[in-house]
Amino acid sequence: MPDIPTQELQKLIPQIYQKLGLHFDEKKIYFLRTRVAKRMAALRMDNARDYIFMISYADPDGREMQALANLITTNETYMFREYEQLQAFANYCLPEVLSAKQARGDKTLRIWCAGCSSGEEAYTLAMIIQDVFPQSTTWDCQIMATDIDENMLKHVMAARYGARSVADVPETFKVKYLTREVDDWVVRRRTAALVQACHLNLNDRMAMRAMRNFDFVFCRNVLIYFDDLSRKTVVEHFYNALNPGGYIFLGHSESIGRMSTAFTLRRFEDYLVYAKG
Ligand SMILES: C[S@@+](CC[C@H](N)C(=O)[O-])C[C@H]1O[C@@H](n2cnc3c(N)ncnc32)[C@H](O)[C@@H]1O
Repeated sequence: MPDIPTQELQKLIPQIYQKLGLHFDEKKIYFLRTRVAKRMAALRMDNARDYIFMISYADPDGREMQALANLITTNETYMFREYEQLQAFANYCLPEVLSAKQARGDKTLRIWCAGCSSGEEAYTLAMIIQDVFPQSTTWDCQIMATDIDENMLKHVMAARYGARSVADVPETFKVKYLTREVDDWVVRRRTAALVQACHLNLNDRMAMRAMRNFDFVFCRNVLIYFDDLSRKTVVEHFYNALNPGGYIFLGHSESIGRMSTAFTLRRFEDYLVYAKG
């Protein structure tokens, strides 16, 4: 593996932050070094200065930054992650939004799963929707699953998962929505059809501004890799992307209170959720 001096890495860190919003501090520098070294080896480059020059000045369409992004994101995920939060969604927020829409004669439901990784979260939401709302077949329901990592989006489109991804799926859901194929589990077509995979960089202002009319935003375990400023900007975009009365779900450890005061805090049993308006 090529050697990468810290001073060269230090030149790369602000560029990664500016393009991707990802924050690499001292603790994560070893991880970054190994990933950059891997990328340089794939390009058969052994001089770190040449690589940093190339990504800084000879990458007009951002392809090299994208290739690096595919290597430096953390993609850990599994179905039915943070189950209590999903119960608040299934038992309270979803029925509330659906009945308000029904009363207005609006039969659309739009969910944005931002930072979806390989898609387990998006398919979890698809299963929940079909379970709590069987009439969804007569509605226009869409779960937009977006991520910056192109390799992950291929997994979303394949909708095929190993045992680890499905370990927390309740048995009744497995039976109804997944099919066993040798060692894998495949999301059934009717459920998979609710999910659409799209490339989107949360740090791309233009692309973020185009995201509108969502009833729910899920962005769980993504903003932990951002710093306060880029988190705040992303959450502002989420606010604008939501319909009035819509909900945002971040991960357990990610408190929205520090990022925005625009949302209203609501309690459903033991669970606190944030709504727009
Ligand atoms: C740990 S996974 C979270 C997956 C899922 N939301 C969950 O909670 O299980 C974080 C994902 O965020 C994505 N990500 C990181 N930075 C991003 C950015 N700037 N734009 C879009 N996605 C990003 C990564 O590629 C990764 O797949």
